[in-house]
Amino acid sequence: MKNKKIIIIGGGVIGLGIGWQLAKAGAAVTIHERGQVGRGASWAAGGMLGPIAEAHIDELDLLKLSNQSLARYPEWVDELESEAEMSIGYRAEGTLIIGIEPDDTYQLRHAYTLYQDLGLNVEWLSGQAAREIEGALSPYVTAAIRCETDHQVDNRLMVQALLHAYQLRGGMLHQHSSVERIVIENGTATGVQTADGFQGADVCILAAGCWSAQISGLPETMIPPVRPVKGQMLALQMREGIMISNVIRTVKARYPMPVYLVPRTDGRLVIGATTEELGFDTDLIVGGIYELLHGAFEAVPAIYKLPLIETWTGLRPGSSDNAPILGKTPIENLIYATGHYRNGILLTPITAYEISTLVRTGEVSEIIAPFHLDRF
Ligand code: FAD
Ligand code: GLY
Repeated sequence: MKNKKIIIIGGGVIGLGIGWQLAKAGAAVTIHERGQVGRGASWAAGGMLGPIAEAHIDELDLLKLSNQSLARYPEWVDELESEAEMSIGYRAEGTLIIGIEPDDTYQLRHAYTLYQDLGLNVEWLSGQAAREIEGALSPYVTAAIRCETDHQVDNRLMVQALLHAYQLRGGMLHQHSSVERIVIENGTATGVQTADGFQGADVCILAAGCWSAQISGLPETMIPPVRPVKGQMLALQMREGIMISNVIRTVKARYPMPVYLVPRTDGRLVIGATTEELGFDTDLIVGGIYELLHGAFEAVPAIYKLPLIETWTGLRPGSSDNAPILGKTPIENLIYATGHYRNGILLTPITAYEISTLVRTGEVSEIIAPFHLDRF
């Protein structure tokens, strides 16, 4: 491992997480980041660690991977916080999925039955019981599902901690260094081409989020099926008397769209998100912000009095089956870690631990085997 030269394309949580673990194991790691590190989807995210709330009946492999990653979060937080000497805002209060009108209650019941069938840790609450946990909830909340194990982390703090820990371990970082091409010779990746010329490597790892399909040099059949899925977001500043501690998510059978409210330890209340198939468009539009505020207001009417402190958009790296693309490829020494879509913050620990193990040992674990590129 000592003399192994690794190049990682992309400095989001995925690239940084893998880079940190590999640098820690003694590899010579260089991350090439086209812009500023950690300012892509990793900065934009809500930070929810929600395998249950994000579960779908036809995505059971993803649910399993998500639960495995969540189980590794406490270890990840301890390791990262002690190396970086800072908090990453991990909070374990849990999540309430709420319904606000009778139609929502039917939808919630349906989801609850599904969660129970899948053996997930959920509890059914009346509207009154939900308000006893979170006093700011609307009097119109009809019922809720409590997901005690769906936690959250402050993804922006995690980016900062990962960068710090990575560099402390000797990881090299080139910001504003776009990888134009992956160089492949005789079926083996030998390095990357940047504006500064060819950079040779023993292993190249593609972790460029929703831009992963744009890098040239790959055979047609190996271009990862990853696309941008836009999310508009905003943040309010909570005040005394209007403090929330659980993550709150709405289901909406009708208008407005479902939203989530994620309270941070510093008093920010992050509200998201739209899900829009608009390519690389990152415009914030009134309709998006209006719907987010409308949905959040229906859940917690007291937000009416809170200052709006930030609005932003981000691009999720969506894959064609919503699950990440992880592991070896038909090209020798080229590894993929991309396409984490709505769950990349949740999936960072498992991705970082498993991909770094793969690079160190060459062994493909059962955990990531279902997520290889060849499933498409
Ligand atoms: P990114 O953070 O986008 O990083 C990719 C990096 O690659 C970028 O910095 C980019 O500049 C760089 N890059 C691109 N092309 C090149 C190139 N050619 N050369 C060099 N560098 C390049 N996940 C959760 O788990 N929980 C949530 O609550 C959650 N909420 C979300 C809300 C929104 C609005 C969005 C947008 C995402 C959310 N996600 C959430 C998903 C999560 O943010 C992503 O899955 C995750 O951040 C992906 O990390 P990444 O490192 O792959 O991508
Ligand atoms: N996981 C939340 C989102 O993608 O908006």
